[in-house]
Amino acid sequence: MADTYQHEPPYTVGVIVGSTAASSINRRLAKALIKLAPEDLQCSFIEIDQLGLYDRDLDASYPPEALAFKEAISSSDAILFVTPEYNRSIPGALKNAIDWASRPYGQNALSRKPVGMAGTSPGGIGTAVAQQHLKAIMSFCNAPLMNDVEVYVQYQEGMVDDNDDVTIDSTKEFLTDFMQRYDDFVRRVLTVVPQNR
Ligand code: FNR
Repeated sequence: MADTYQHEPPYTVGVIVGSTAASSINRRLAKALIKLAPEDLQCSFIEIDQLGLYDRDLDASYPPEALAFKEAISSSDAILFVTPEYNRSIPGALKNAIDWASRPYGQNALSRKPVGMAGTSPGGIGTAVAQQHLKAIMSFCNAPLMNDVEVYVQYQEGMVDDNDDVTIDSTKEFLTDFMQRYDDFVRRVLTVVPQNR
């Protein structure tokens, strides 16, 4: 197929944690996922805590930190969100970051960017509602979404240790499988979808 774009691994993955808390359990989960990732995936964090509040009056002259944030997304092959649930949605800090990434109109850094997501909460539904909201937002942002494994993790104290290792065997197996499937998903999107049209 002449217009099929094939991007061989490794793939660079920008990992965006929805929590800005130093003690974040979602950052712990993100670090564990990075450690479990197959070799094809080169993961690094893209931080959101330096961003001011999005203001469309700044569309013509984005502040440097917002430009750097957008560039980090643009230069990643794929994005992995690891987010808490706040009041049955995503945290405002994460929505703010996504708003920066999506603008100015026509320059949406998330468009066509393969996106996976995961999250953890002490609560029983493990960020399921927040992730449904995030999926709706990513859909509007034209980001191809991984759907075949949903990672709603009920956090238990000590579930991820200080070496970023998952201490519960069944959870480790589940998360390892997720990262393998995420790798497959990224490969599928980057192989099949023509990138320049
Ligand atoms: C929460 N928390 C929470 N948990 C949940 O499962 N569903 C929810 O809707 C909410 N809402 C909520 C709102 C706000 C403002 C806070 C601060 C917390 C609890 C939340 O899951 C818990 O604080 C996690 O530790 C947050 O994740 P990080 O920041 O530790 O990654």
